[in-house]
Amino acid sequence: MRVSQTIRLLLVVAVAYAIVELGIPAIGALMKPGTWPVVPVHLVRLYLFFIVIVILLYAAADEERWSRVRGDFRFFFGAPGARIARTATIVAISLAGGYGAYDAVRPRFETPPELRAVHPAPPSSFSIGGKMYDLLTLDNPLRADKQNFAGDVKAGAAIFFKQCFFCHGDKLDGRGLYADAFHPPPANFRDIGTIAQLQESYLFWRIATGGPGLPREGGPWMSSMPVWHRFLSETEIWQVILFLYDFTGHAPRAREP
Ligand code: HEC
Repeated sequence: MRVSQTIRLLLVVAVAYAIVELGIPAIGALMKPGTWPVVPVHLVRLYLFFIVIVILLYAAADEERWSRVRGDFRFFFGAPGARIARTATIVAISLAGGYGAYDAVRPRFETPPELRAVHPAPPSSFSIGGKMYDLLTLDNPLRADKQNFAGDVKAGAAIFFKQCFFCHGDKLDGRGLYADAFHPPPANFRDIGTIAQLQESYLFWRIATGGPGLPREGGPWMSSMPVWHRFLSETEIWQVILFLYDFTGHAPRAREP
């Protein structure tokens, strides 16, 4: 057989590929029965790349072996007897390449894997009407004012039940009258996953700039949260924040020292 040397080397590549693709998951299945881990495609390609390099080095390391491989290639590409094999190989490679291109561009209908970041990182500062707010140092100025605290919470409650409860609900649980119309749904402030783990400056930023103020990670859905700095004064926003914490009993997240 003329092409035996090259075919033997190709068989070694195929066996190595089978070990990567099936052997590694099999070890995983032995360690944790009932599972079949998947080797990432990029890792498989990386392994194959090195395997092919090593096999080429092995073939080239010996003059006699290398000249046999060269002879195989000359036979395959030149000899009339190898015509069918040659044509079949070229057609197969073209078809595989064509399918790869088709597979890469064909439309898919699965939902995109990208998930919305519910609490995206805030900017370090933002400005409203020319006034800059530095989120790293911003604090609720009303919280220190113990004398007017009760009055501020009451004013915040009035704002909430005038402006926010349609969406965030009269129990602050995100189940307002309009809640079902929105995707993403309005935040549930009683849940420990929302205001309880956020700083007041973060709330200020979110309330003032609303859904349109969210950075890209806040997508892919459109938040219906309004841009409240157009309707509320700075003091009113701080008052409604006081109310949210007072009503739910949560404490705002402390600033890291
Ligand atoms: C039209 C419906 C609507 C109204 C009215 C509304 N919100 Fe929202 N709000 C949302 C939605 C939807 C979200 C969740 C999506 C998002 O984070 O933007 C949200 C999110 C928030 C968040 C972020 C919570 C978090 O965990 O990140 C705060 C704070 C908030 N709203 C406060 C308010 C306040 C205060 C008012 C009233 C002044 C108000 N909202 C009025 C729809 C509304």
